[in-house]
Amino acid sequence: MERVLSGMQPSGRLHLGNLVGALQNWVRLQEKYECYYFIADWHALTTQYTDASQIKENIEDMLVNYLAVGLDPKKSTIFIQSWVPEHAELHILLSMITPLGWLERVPTYKEKQQEIKDRDLATHGFLGYPVLQSADILIYKANYVPVGIDQLSHLEITREICRRFNFLYGDVFPEPEGLLTEFPKVTGLDGRKMSKSYNNCIYLSDAPKEVEQKIKTMMTDPKRIRRTDKGDPELSPVFQLHKIFSTKNEQEEVADSCRTAAIGCLDCKEILIKNIFKVLEPIWSARKRFLEKPEFLKDIARAGTEKAKMAAKETLTEVKNVLGLY
Ligand code: TRP
Repeated sequence: MERVLSGMQPSGRLHLGNLVGALQNWVRLQEKYECYYFIADWHALTTQYTDASQIKENIEDMLVNYLAVGLDPKKSTIFIQSWVPEHAELHILLSMITPLGWLERVPTYKEKQQEIKDRDLATHGFLGYPVLQSADILIYKANYVPVGIDQLSHLEITREICRRFNFLYGDVFPEPEGLLTEFPKVTGLDGRKMSKSYNNCIYLSDAPKEVEQKIKTMMTDPKRIRRTDKGDPELSPVFQLHKIFSTKNEQEEVADSCRTAAIGCLDCKEILIKNIFKVLEPIWSARKRFLEKPEFLKDIARAGTEKAKMAAKETLTEVKNVLGLY
């Protein structure tokens, strides 16, 4: 069976954008592929190295979310990156053959440095971020990597490192391909892309009351001031969310009633709240179950890690052989 691998940095809580853009796709892929899903805690350290205390909490919450959305440890291997130190061993071996120029040219390298002003990212670890990601992928000989567009440059360098390795030492790694999710970007509460850095998210861990409150206070068409004003749904971030969470019929209905002022913004929001609750309710109740059993969570991570380690060790042995290490 072909292999799929993906991971996320435990750098914050997961939100609806992560759910729709990635996790729901991961869940579907479990049925067709041998899947490896992990928590990239070393990657989080490349930018949060001055204070790692938050990472631990985020790992636990991420594990809860992975399971609550339907990743199934019976179908997929779910694990924590730093518990499989073989990734680091492959990372150092790949770093030997990776030209500096390739890394300096990765767009995220300069972008993130400009974006994140409060920390010094002129570090070896941060420059090597894509090499570590390559090791994550290649150590499982993954065929497919479901990621968002923002990760394509990292995948491209993984493919380059893969080709260079195979060219120098013989065919060891299959060239991994990206699997782009076809979902549109989830709009945040303020109309921009949902992102924790914009503080405009609905989190999977938000309480029902919080979600309701967040949607009720969302912006709508700024020109629709009075209930009797006719609105333009396309100018309302609420409608953008309807496009993802409501049925086609509901979308047409709220759009028409907005244009004719047949319903008010609060009515429109009530429908959205109902539909988002439909998605979140099973996640909330699963989260509750898992949060009550922290030991069970850890056991799942341990078992997944053991499985991952076996596959990783096998590849690493092969790598050391072709390299001719003593
Ligand atoms: N860089 C990815 C992100 O920020 C996380 C990640 C690390 C990853 N290693 C990976 C994703 C390997 C896919 C495959 O989202």
